[in-house]
Amino acid sequence: MNKMKCLYCYHEDVFQPNEILCPVCHQPLLFDLIQFNKASFSYDGEIALQKYRQFLPLPAINLELSLKEGGTPLLRLFSLEKFLNKAGLFAKLEMANPTLSFKDRGTAVVVQKLAEMKIKKIGTVSTGNMASSTAAYAARCGLQAFLLVKKGTSTGALISSAVFEPVIIEVDGDYGQLFYKSYQLGKKYGLYFANSVDPLRLEGYKLTSFEICQQLGHQPNFIFVPVSSGGHLVGLYKGFLELKQAGLIQACPTFIGVQAEGCSPIVQALERGEDKVGKVESINTLAHSISNADPPAGNLVLKIIEENKGQLVSVSDEEMLEAQKLLAVKEGLFAQPEASTTLAAYLKLKETLDGQSVLVLTGHGLKASELPAGHHQKHYESRLDQIDDIFEQIIIDRQTTGTEDSL
Ligand SMILES: Cc1ncc(COP(=O)(O)O)c(C=O)c1O
Ligand SMILES: [Zn+2]
Repeated sequence: MNKMKCLYCYHEDVFQPNEILCPVCHQPLLFDLIQFNKASFSYDGEIALQKYRQFLPLPAINLELSLKEGGTPLLRLFSLEKFLNKAGLFAKLEMANPTLSFKDRGTAVVVQKLAEMKIKKIGTVSTGNMASSTAAYAARCGLQAFLLVKKGTSTGALISSAVFEPVIIEVDGDYGQLFYKSYQLGKKYGLYFANSVDPLRLEGYKLTSFEICQQLGHQPNFIFVPVSSGGHLVGLYKGFLELKQAGLIQACPTFIGVQAEGCSPIVQALERGEDKVGKVESINTLAHSISNADPPAGNLVLKIIEENKGQLVSVSDEEMLEAQKLLAVKEGLFAQPEASTTLAAYLKLKETLDGQSVLVLTGHGLKASELPAGHHQKHYESRLDQIDDIFEQIIIDRQTTGTEDSL
């Protein structure tokens, strides 16, 4: 159950807290693929962790430690299909998780393992979704949470974490180095650092692939995922690989990893024909959650994409905001710009795609504090006795500007 393997250089190891990188090639270690008998597989249970427990490196699942993450909707995007004149478009709503991002699936596995190992302190290097998720699960499970954040991070950015009362440490220095430093701190002070490419987190992410296949009845043809550290994409890939090995699906879908133009180290490595990902020197994007300049799973993502004939695409800030707006006004979905990169990439590639595509919407738009640029904000005020007049005016306004017809 604690056997680990490196999917990059195939080194084998055993699971140890805070030793999550392969000692040979420094890519993240993964739990070994579960060898499992199709005949004995069952899907019963209240939450995803229980339904797919045979695929997890956990001896038991304790419901008390869960916030009922997972089991997120797979939504067919009918309105966008009509608008784009293209069938077979779906969104997996990972933003419907308890703290509004896919990170909960990973944190949920981490806290189960910590209970098994009797570790009472959890840490993470993040200011965004992972920090919020880690702090929430720590509160639920009675753990002490330590968040290492960049100096100067605004209180606003930390509200969705601070509300759970974790220990927050602002660190002045190289943020990339902090990732590696955190494991030293973890070993020294008895904390489990659950960072972006943690192998337990990846076990949670792989369940998203299981759900997509069950919800569709088969594997999709294409899956669009935003990529930063690379942890999420690797986890999803491992999920399809295990289903394939178990004989439950025929083939893995084609992966399309999406990065922001202003920070796209993995896309650049692929375009240059390199087999190693270099560090980006300056970051220039509003998509902060996907702006890891030195992605710890970068080389592995590159290998997975190349070996499986996947694609890596970068999109501009304008393209992701336009896509965010389309998801909102056409489908009623408020996704983070980072998550909307998936639709932006789909729009670029759609003529070349044949079959069903799933956009993984990784985080909710409410995580950003301002209305994105380019959105029309129409705000009216009215006294109750004036409401007829105001309504009348709005209807006339919309007819004259043609807004009504475009909906
Ligand atoms: C909303 C959102 N999407 C995508 C990602 C990228 O995930 P990963 O770092 O695992 O590649 C993140 C990472 O924090 C995120 O917050
Ligand atoms: Zn290795």
